[in-house]
Amino acid sequence: MERFYITTPIFYVNAKPHLGHAYTTIVADSLSRFHRLMGEETFFLTGTDEHGDKIVQAAESHGQSPQEYVDIISKLFRDLWPSMNISNNDFIRTTEPRHIEVVQSILQKVYDSGDIYFGEYGGHYCFGCERFYTEKELVDGLCPDHQTKPEYIAEKNYFFKMSKYKDWLRDHINKNPDFIRPEQYRNEVLGLLDSGDLEDLCISRPKLRLTWGIELPFDKDYVTYVWFDALINYLAALDYPNGEKFKEFWPSANHLIAKDILKPHAIFWPTMLKAAGIEPYKHLNVHGYWLVKDTKMSKSIGNVIEPLAMKDSYGLDAFRYFLLREMSFGQDSSFSEDALIGRLNADLANDLGNLFSRTLSMTHKYFEGVVPRPDVEDIIDAEIKKLGQDAMKSFQSFYGELKFSRGLEGLWELVRGLNKYIDSTAPWTLYKNEDMARLSTVIYVLLENMRKIAVHLWPVMPESSEKMLEQLGINFDPEKFNLPKELDVWGLLESGDTVAKSSNLFPRVEMPEPKPETQNGKNGKNEKKSMKQKTESGGTIEFEDFQKLDMRIGTVKEVEKHPDADRLLLIRVDTGEDELRQVVSGIADHFAPDDLIGKQVVVVANLKPRKLRKQLSQGMILAVKSGDGLQLLTPSGDVDSGSKVS
Ligand code: MSP
Repeated sequence: MERFYITTPIFYVNAKPHLGHAYTTIVADSLSRFHRLMGEETFFLTGTDEHGDKIVQAAESHGQSPQEYVDIISKLFRDLWPSMNISNNDFIRTTEPRHIEVVQSILQKVYDSGDIYFGEYGGHYCFGCERFYTEKELVDGLCPDHQTKPEYIAEKNYFFKMSKYKDWLRDHINKNPDFIRPEQYRNEVLGLLDSGDLEDLCISRPKLRLTWGIELPFDKDYVTYVWFDALINYLAALDYPNGEKFKEFWPSANHLIAKDILKPHAIFWPTMLKAAGIEPYKHLNVHGYWLVKDTKMSKSIGNVIEPLAMKDSYGLDAFRYFLLREMSFGQDSSFSEDALIGRLNADLANDLGNLFSRTLSMTHKYFEGVVPRPDVEDIIDAEIKKLGQDAMKSFQSFYGELKFSRGLEGLWELVRGLNKYIDSTAPWTLYKNEDMARLSTVIYVLLENMRKIAVHLWPVMPESSEKMLEQLGINFDPEKFNLPKELDVWGLLESGDTVAKSSNLFPRVEMPEPKPETQNGKNGKNEKKSMKQKTESGGTIEFEDFQKLDMRIGTVKEVEKHPDADRLLLIRVDTGEDELRQVVSGIADHFAPDDLIGKQVVVVANLKPRKLRKQLSQGMILAVKSGDGLQLLTPSGDVDSGSKVS
């Protein structure tokens, strides 16, 4: 049996999990599920990286001991994954004895073979990166990543003879073109090797400076450098050297990382493995970075996207689908809730959701919910079957090559093709003409294709896939379904089985008005709350909910342009209070300030005040979109300023 071993980086526990961590882990989960459905035995590992300066500093800033601190943050990661439907088989922590043992045994092995030596080293040490920089690597004397001045440190340390393996590594990469993929990263690594900069790697830290690490087995005054410690987790979890799992899974090792940690994985790790007499991993799979409005996510900018918040606002599967569909693997991508809503509405609610709800309701209307036996065939059925086969083939081959976006695009050819098939075969006309023989085939073709789509979507949206299959009367068992077989089999859906009456797995989400806060990443939270998903019952709220709104008529007295934002106006309205109320509103594209003076508008007066681009906004003015334009809501006749809207 083929096997597939997939790993994520073990994440540092100096920060809470965010979109970036979630993306890598969702991709790993998706790949693990995909390979399971391809008939392989899979092992999926994630975990946390808990040693080093960074962690000590983070613990100190929280007034905790390193152990207390790592226990708390590691648990945040461990607890997050089940709620994102992550199906990891193991979760490793670098503070666990099983890991420490393997790190020490490998260190000893490499030391004994003569590839670790003791020497003096002086270098520019960046505490943020936990590494030494050469003069050449600094940019204007600063760390290229942190833009801080590194500290010059000279000390005695242990070194790994990495330079000795440079030619072997270059050769290995050349002989195995997909060892590092996509190609741009392979080229980057070859470039690094050719630039002649590959020095030996300093792999220890004196305990005088750092005690929070794994002690070197051959010198108790030193601890192991974080990367030499962390990378070995990939072996420790397989019970290297004697474990069954190591024998079974290591030959299929696939590491998944983002470009930020390319060098340790592409250069340190294979040379470490070589020195320890272990075969190199099979593939290093490198993806790009998620940016927010083209900027790196950062706590200080306040644009960090929290995966749980996305799940709560849009549903986990829509979030997973978006991440896999939107990012072209290897490239950077920009995350925005607008783009997510766009995809959710177009691909999921419109294309996929409609296909399911239309077909199920037709099955009920024409066949009382029972899967009909196919009867009279037409050329169009053969065409759609062929389209289905091509779509599934394309999904399977692209997905296996980590081209998730293209794989999904391929599968959607079938989703859209089936919607067109409904329109062309017009089941309602067949029913009207009492052509039940033809109608049976049409509905069967739709249902059987929907089954195939649902199975293919399990790696992407596991929960929805299982629900879709349940709606088709099937209990999903990943061991029983096999994607390659789906290309050939037809007719697994049993005639006579009953299907669900309706399906509303992907309710549409209202696209928010182009609100001022969308220009400001800091207000992501407000945005999320305002985008309430319609519920299956049609999005009703209780009367008391409505009563919570304090809406009043305001008369516009003064308007000026926002000094720092072209799309915003500062509108001061008389709402019957002692002072005018200022509302910052994103309507400058539609109204000139003078047009608004004297107008009566509806103001939501009890919205929590907040600053938009440094200007205080005390409420919201209601407007309605009309074509490309915008109209303000206004009373049909003059009323007193401050009158309550009810
Ligand atoms: N602890 C090391 C890894 C050791 S592996 C032996 C580490 N940890 S980390 O917490 O900084 O995680 C880095 C990884 O998080 C990236 O390689 C990527 O998988 C993920 N991401 C963090 N931010 C990201 C984005 N903005 N976009 C996409 N993924 C990113 O490095």
